[in-house]
Amino acid sequence: MLRYLSASADAAAIIEVLEEEGALVVEGFLADRVVDAFNLEVDDLVRQQIPDRACLGPVYDALFGKRTRHLTALAAHSDVFRREILLHPLYRTLCDAILLPMCSSWQLNYSHIFEITPGAVAQFMHRDDGCWPALATAPYEIEVASILALSRFTRENGATRVVPGSHRWPVDRVPRQAEIFPAVMPAGSALLYLGSTLHAAGANTTPAELRRGMHVSFCLGWLRTEENNFLATPLEQVRTFTPEVQAVLGYRAHDAAPQGGCLGVLGMNDPLELLRTGRL
Ligand SMILES: [Fe+2]
Repeated sequence: MLRYLSASADAAAIIEVLEEEGALVVEGFLADRVVDAFNLEVDDLVRQQIPDRACLGPVYDALFGKRTRHLTALAAHSDVFRREILLHPLYRTLCDAILLPMCSSWQLNYSHIFEITPGAVAQFMHRDDGCWPALATAPYEIEVASILALSRFTRENGATRVVPGSHRWPVDRVPRQAEIFPAVMPAGSALLYLGSTLHAAGANTTPAELRRGMHVSFCLGWLRTEENNFLATPLEQVRTFTPEVQAVLGYRAHDAAPQGGCLGVLGMNDPLELLRTGRL
């Protein structure tokens, strides 16, 4: 069963369900005014995207389909995203609880709007942490992910289908139909899930309804991220961001002290400090 909790629920309860079930819906994750302001900000950009476009290769093409508009690099495109979504307190709480035991800092992995148009077929079931296959059986979580509803999600318009409990399954176990639940939810709610949880975008079988959702995920600070967040936003723009935003975009060096060693340094310094002091 897919559990639903309110965003006002105790954070410990949300963490517990996420760790036990591998997924849950948090109702009211974003206030209506945030959803409205964000949609207004990105509407034109999303509308300009061509659904039928070639991606990286056949697997990527099959996953993302030919009837879905995609907009990524959202920190570059949206002030609302940077101020109200990227640093959402619940993301911070969940990432601190689930990722921080295995890293000194976590980072944005991917920010990605999917607008599923009528006729879009369902994605194949997958785990998002499949991006790091060498860690497929790691005894710890490497990614905390979410799909935010920017329009209502229904069974008919392509609500994400998710398999609670699958984060603890052998990687080759195939879900039965009764184990798959659609994340039916209003705009502003969010499906939160672990990188190890099976899920897939649903098919849009409506005649004319768009389903707009947004994937936002975070990963251990020592992993390479799915989107190249350094190239996604020009450095001149990054310089205008707050240190908190710069840090979560990956500009903070990952300091493995006291074991030793740092990742992401520049000239033996922390890029975040270089940005703060005007040296980058
Ligand atoms: Fe996915």
